[in-house]
Amino acid sequence: MTSAPTTPVLPLPARHSGGCPFGPPPAYSEAAATGPVTRAELPDGDLCWLVTGFAEVRTVLSDRRFSADIRHPTFPLLIAGARELITDNPDFLRLDDPEHARQRRMLTGEFLVKRVESLRPEIQRIVDEALDRMTAGRTTADLVTDFALPVPSLVICLLLGVPYEDHDRFQSLSRTMLSQESTVEQLREAQEEVRTYLADLTARKRAQPEDDVLSRLAARDDMTPDDVAGMAVLLLIAGHETTANMIALSTALLLEHPEQIPGLADPATLPGAVEELLRLLTIVHTGLPRVALEDVELGGVTVRAGEGVMAMLSTANRDEAVFGGAGRRATDELDLDRDARRHLAFGFGVHQCLGQPLARAELQIALETLFRRLPGLRPTGEREFRTESFIYGMRSLPVSW
Ligand code: HEM
Repeated sequence: MTSAPTTPVLPLPARHSGGCPFGPPPAYSEAAATGPVTRAELPDGDLCWLVTGFAEVRTVLSDRRFSADIRHPTFPLLIAGARELITDNPDFLRLDDPEHARQRRMLTGEFLVKRVESLRPEIQRIVDEALDRMTAGRTTADLVTDFALPVPSLVICLLLGVPYEDHDRFQSLSRTMLSQESTVEQLREAQEEVRTYLADLTARKRAQPEDDVLSRLAARDDMTPDDVAGMAVLLLIAGHETTANMIALSTALLLEHPEQIPGLADPATLPGAVEELLRLLTIVHTGLPRVALEDVELGGVTVRAGEGVMAMLSTANRDEAVFGGAGRRATDELDLDRDARRHLAFGFGVHQCLGQPLARAELQIALETLFRRLPGLRPTGEREFRTESFIYGMRSLPVSW
């Protein structure tokens, strides 16, 4: 066992240049081809480990010897200089148990499968109304701005109790917060603005509660207003950027594989089709950061205590041994009949996505309805991908029908 580099050191984050626009940057797949755990370099110049194998990614995300606490002095960061933005009070995505579990438990009831199932008629209404607006009196649209963005944005605003009229502002702030190209100063300003916005809203909810998640959080006496605002930032950003980009990318990909679109029409095959889209597109291309708390043997190397690791969901989700097999297309291709249920697109372990029942319901309803109502949907003009974001996605997708 050794912690010495055995392969060339890859500078992170890798950029999209060439390769399939629906896949992760080719450099990650190339690293994966050389071994499940390889060396990489963070923008600050520190070395870390790139963990690309399916089994190794699951170990990193479920073994308590790897910490998600961003306050750790060597926690891997993908923006140079961003360590100065870390506060004593990060949101629970970047905390370990027991504090992570304490805060997450406050929200689990809101996102349970049963609760989300009861929201399906409301989500269907939001999807239908978005399509009504998109198609009223015209035959062309930008699927991103007219459908993929408004649907999850309206759903999460409704759940949280955030006025949808403010969406332009918080969408542009969340773009800045998710961009690999933002400067530390831009990140600081965006973080402060979105936090102030949600702290003000939380204070209003405390004074005048309504039937929404923010009002219920604001009424708790075991949460400071600052804790509630932090949680609201996490939910608002996680709740719309992710699903919006999944809807847009899934649509663009399906338009390239029209022979597979009928797989969405059957209620028996729709859930499996969405799992395959989640697997193949795995929109968190840059990986999930963790830091080792002890020396750990992983995929043939020793990760030393204090070293950072990036758990690469996108390469793990293309592992042929897990998702390939006789009669199946290669794992970098779309195959809606594949059993993709073990995919890691929502992460794994204690931090596994809290909103996954909601994301699944939104994706199933949005994609089924879109292709049922617009059977003649086709791409027109130049589409643009969002390559600079930590959450991969699309900036525009011109369509007609
Ligand atoms: C966590 C992906 C939609 C809320 C995560 C993680 C991933 C992920 C990979 C794990 C992060 C880590 O371990 O470091 C996705 C994808 C989505 C999606 C691909 C859509 C297709 C949503 C939605 C919500 C949401 C709709 C709703 C509010 C959260 C929260 C966490 C999280 C709160 C933190 C969980 C924790 O730390 O315990 N998500 N997400 N996500 N997601 Fe999602």
